[in-house]
Amino acid sequence: MALVSMREILNDAQKRKYAVGGFNVFNFETLGAVGEVAEELKAPIVLGVAERLFKFVDVETLSAAILCAAKKSAVPVALHLDHAHTYEGVMKAIRWGFTSVMFDGSAMSLTDNLKRTKEISNIAHSLGISVEGELGYINCYRPSEAGDDENLIKLDIVADFVAKTKIDALAIAANRNHGACKNEIQLDFARLSQLSSQISIPLVMHGGSKLRKEDYRDAIQAGISKINIATDMSLVAAEKLKSELTTSPNANYVHLMSVVKKGVKDSVRKYMLYFDCISKAM
Ligand code: 13P
Repeated sequence: MALVSMREILNDAQKRKYAVGGFNVFNFETLGAVGEVAEELKAPIVLGVAERLFKFVDVETLSAAILCAAKKSAVPVALHLDHAHTYEGVMKAIRWGFTSVMFDGSAMSLTDNLKRTKEISNIAHSLGISVEGELGYINCYRPSEAGDDENLIKLDIVADFVAKTKIDALAIAANRNHGACKNEIQLDFARLSQLSSQISIPLVMHGGSKLRKEDYRDAIQAGISKINIATDMSLVAAEKLKSELTTSPNANYVHLMSVVKKGVKDSVRKYMLYFDCISKAM
């Protein structure tokens, strides 16, 4: 129970065919919301903190709070660095006690991405920390943009990347579509299944906010073991603030914090239901 590496959590999800929520948190309200719902629903969780948050929030202090909450939690919790693009960011997270890091070298050349990810994997693994890697354009989404198929990464290259870097999980990007509304996206489940049958490690779906309910189910069937949600955490919080201030313009900040937390909890509950991770905490 409590604070664990991401590998431990994802291996169980892969084995029992459900997806763990990779929820990005950025303050007490979002941390409390995800942590409380996870305990209520007995669901393992990955708490993500994006490297880009370092610019806005004192992540050293935030991660100390997350670690404190994780250690007290009745469910397995991994603290994960999301989308790190720098070596420094990864090293900071390791120093602050993260149990998992993602190195996103997808914008680099394949050679540089492989070299960097392998280096980080060696260091992280020697400290018992899990690593998520990301390749470029794997394309598990349709329709592809014109010309993009030329850049499509072949499945044998993916398998080679996984074998050489020894990463614990591989991110599948939602094709430049992280973020708000993406009803128009068609996931290519056949390609996703093909990919998951080629490699043994769990696959992670990025860009998980606001997909169709059936997409989550089909993605899990096709081999996805973690689904990342970040945009919706922030959008729901902002929507709750706006609507509460419309009906109660004199509301104080402590009250607003509780309204935000309740709204985020409802959203997290909905995603956990879609991910089929309820009662999976061991
Ligand atoms: P969304 O922006 O769709 O929530 O995806 C988040 C994500 O993939 C973070 O890694």
